[in-house]
Amino acid sequence: MSARLVTIAEGKTKLRVPKKSLSEREPATNPVFFNPAARVNRDVSVAITSVLAGSSFCDVLAGTGARGIRIAKEVPRSVQVTLNDFNRFAMTIAKRNAQLNRVTDRCSFSHDEANHFLYSKFGRDEKFDFLDLDPFGSPAPFLEAGLAASAHESVVSVTATDTAVLCGVYPSVALRRYGSTSRRSDFEHETAIRILLYFCCRAAAAADIGIEPIACHSTRHYLRVYLLTHRSAASADHSVRQVGYVAECRTCGECTASEAPLTKCRECGERVQAAGPIWTGRITDGRVLERAKHFADRMSFTNAAPILQALVGVDRYPPYSYDLERICSRLKISSVSHQRVSERLSSEGFDSMKQPFEKSGLKTKASYAEAAEIVKETSSSSPQTHQI
Ligand SMILES: C[S@@+](CC[C@H](N)C(=O)[O-])C[C@H]1O[C@@H](n2cnc3c(N)ncnc32)[C@H](O)[C@@H]1O
Ligand SMILES: [Zn+2]
Repeated sequence: MSARLVTIAEGKTKLRVPKKSLSEREPATNPVFFNPAARVNRDVSVAITSVLAGSSFCDVLAGTGARGIRIAKEVPRSVQVTLNDFNRFAMTIAKRNAQLNRVTDRCSFSHDEANHFLYSKFGRDEKFDFLDLDPFGSPAPFLEAGLAASAHESVVSVTATDTAVLCGVYPSVALRRYGSTSRRSDFEHETAIRILLYFCCRAAAAADIGIEPIACHSTRHYLRVYLLTHRSAASADHSVRQVGYVAECRTCGECTASEAPLTKCRECGERVQAAGPIWTGRITDGRVLERAKHFADRMSFTNAAPILQALVGVDRYPPYSYDLERICSRLKISSVSHQRVSERLSSEGFDSMKQPFEKSGLKTKASYAEAAEIVKETSSSSPQTHQI
């Protein structure tokens, strides 16, 4: 197999990639897949790996090796990187990329089916401190093996590109793949991330492993989560208690997080359809976020730093949000600015922040009715209408 290759720069790394992948809207999987738009995904990965301890990284679905080679080259300490892919041509390119960046001594290569490779590490001392799963579509088929090959206190990072499934467009597929019913809502990307975390929690708990999410983002067409694993039954027990459901009432707008799935809105009594099970616990580690954001700033990862910054404080709020445009449209008023609503909420004693996973979402502990009242007041006291 052959392809016209070109050299590009990503971070401090040079990469040989198929020329066609730079111009196609959907990069081809043949002869090897490379998505230039996933640079920000890899930037976040380099930032998080740089600020956490650990000396081995496994890029088990490596493609051209873009992520693994960047880790070997850009993380400011020596990390031994293992790159695996069942596409022989991908591994040929990955080896060339290691040579191009003079990191061959930090890299090893494996041409194998991912689960077969990961289970070969099961029960051995060569488990990984960082393990990345970056599949086409759902990561579900790889998670159990990924956890088996990850060390105690390791970081497992997971991409899902079956976003429509997790966001409620195909709830029955979500139930099949993730054991959880997805639902469309004004905070469907957050729910999607929390369903993915629920799945990670379940898969880990089955192996007596607890999880602690560090960071997550919803960017373009994919979702991404980073979690720390703890190999202990007590930690797994703690994790499985962080599971529940979330429901949005289409009639009155109220949102509810609950231990069991709600069927009726607690506010107006109308029928609701809950999403879940979802992970309702913390989804970030503030200290890691802060340090990774500084690293991203220093490296001029201009798109990654805002992604990390946007997450700061998210765990102070319930696992849902309200959509300002939707509130205005229900109230039949013109758009209000996020900042003015936020100031008004604050003067009423409610903190708030921009929802990091949705376009015009507002996170607050205020009820929907309280938030809507404040939006109404903001609108009537505005000298002119604002765009969000
Ligand atoms: C989305 S691409 C990875 C992109 C890469 N991580 C990057 O940042 O450029 C997914 C890769 O997984 C490989 N792959 C898919 N299923 C696999 C399996 N079961 N075992 C091993 N490799 C697999 C594909 O050949 C492809 O190269
Ligand atoms: Zn209601």
